[in-house]
Amino acid sequence: MANVVVVGAQWGDEGKGKIVDWLSERADVIARFQGGHNAGHTLVVGEKVYKLHALPSGVVRGGKLSVIGNGVVLDPWHLVKEIATIRGQGVDISPENLMIAENTPLILPIHGELDRAREEAASKGTKIGTTGRGIGPAYEDKVGRRSVRVADLADDATLEARVDRALQHHDPLRKGLGIEAIDRDALVAQLKEIASEILPYAAPVWKVLNEKRKAGKRILFEGAQGALLDIDFGTYPFVTSSNVIAGQAATGVGVGPGSIEYVLGIVKAYTTRVGEGPFPTELDDADGQRLGERGHEFGTTTGRKRRCGWFDAALVRQTCATSGVTGISLTKLDVLDGFETLKICVGYDLDGERLDYLPTAADQQARCTPIYEEMPGWSESTEGARSWNDLPANAIKYVKRVEELIECPVALLSTSPERDDTILVTDPFAD
Ligand code: IMP
Repeated sequence: MANVVVVGAQWGDEGKGKIVDWLSERADVIARFQGGHNAGHTLVVGEKVYKLHALPSGVVRGGKLSVIGNGVVLDPWHLVKEIATIRGQGVDISPENLMIAENTPLILPIHGELDRAREEAASKGTKIGTTGRGIGPAYEDKVGRRSVRVADLADDATLEARVDRALQHHDPLRKGLGIEAIDRDALVAQLKEIASEILPYAAPVWKVLNEKRKAGKRILFEGAQGALLDIDFGTYPFVTSSNVIAGQAATGVGVGPGSIEYVLGIVKAYTTRVGEGPFPTELDDADGQRLGERGHEFGTTTGRKRRCGWFDAALVRQTCATSGVTGISLTKLDVLDGFETLKICVGYDLDGERLDYLPTAADQQARCTPIYEEMPGWSESTEGARSWNDLPANAIKYVKRVEELIECPVALLSTSPERDDTILVTDPFAD
């Protein structure tokens, strides 16, 4: 296969960073196609730990082209800092190996301020629990046709006109929320200053990628967040503001849908979520506590404690369908070591009726109770397993049951944050 899309198949934090890094060894190009620096991908390479937010995971590998596509919203100040941090860890980053689509909308300080002010003003039940990075307001401006985009940084008159257009919308909003008025000239000056650091990376990404594709180069599309946070198919309104599902890979960089040949869904062996919103299998007990502690479930971006619960096969079956997942990478199986009994949600009870998917209507979601299947756990350690022979029989049974229930095969099994602690069943890049 020439091109592979990696998507999170739950609420994010499934361990995509490690898998993308592992796959990037086989790829020529690694492209981010949605989200922004709300993402947090941790890569462990030997002794080094890299924490990436806006940069594609491929940057830590030499000889690869990393791409930030137009489907992303980009905070230029954050990016410049992140580049400096990763460079400080000995990684080479230059326009030779990093490109940013010229049509990428920028996240401005006004977006973060608006995001945080809205969250502060929200009452219980309406708060989203965003990362506060300005992601939602930046996407709103994109759709509202008032973004400042990367290409606008190259011409002062255009830049100023774009800023004025955005402020026409933001000034009254800020007033209503009690945020102080924007110093328009200071914002323009800040943008002019950062322009020289961003523009060297600007490129017609759609063109570059289409040329790479024609030349038979392998492209890895790196998704962020998870399909249950998708603006259309997630648990709306407790979602992020972009399409997260695999279809976005095409529009988020400018290639045709036929360019995507394999969709790898990243699936954690249990479930976590940060922020507000429905979570049918959430555990508010010692088992939930144990999953959180063993899985080190704290957000990479915000440091928030993640909510934890049993594996929800009904939801993952749903996300495998909406993203057309070819195979999954099952991660963090080792976190389940030592549980006497494991539960898997196979569907929901809604007012006495059995459903095999989570309904869309919020009131129905609230009335859904999970239907569980119980499986015996295992006492042996699976941490660091590199072949099926290293796994206890009950762990294999658990994995096989997951495959059956989600109607999708396991392609990769990850058993620790280390890059090599992976059991390979199918190489998504294999022909
Ligand atoms: P936003 O993307 O900052 O607007 O946040 C919207 C929702 O998505 C919140 O519930 C966040 O916690 C969640 N979210 C955003 N990015 C990530 C991520 O990378 N991992 C997990 N959850 C995320």
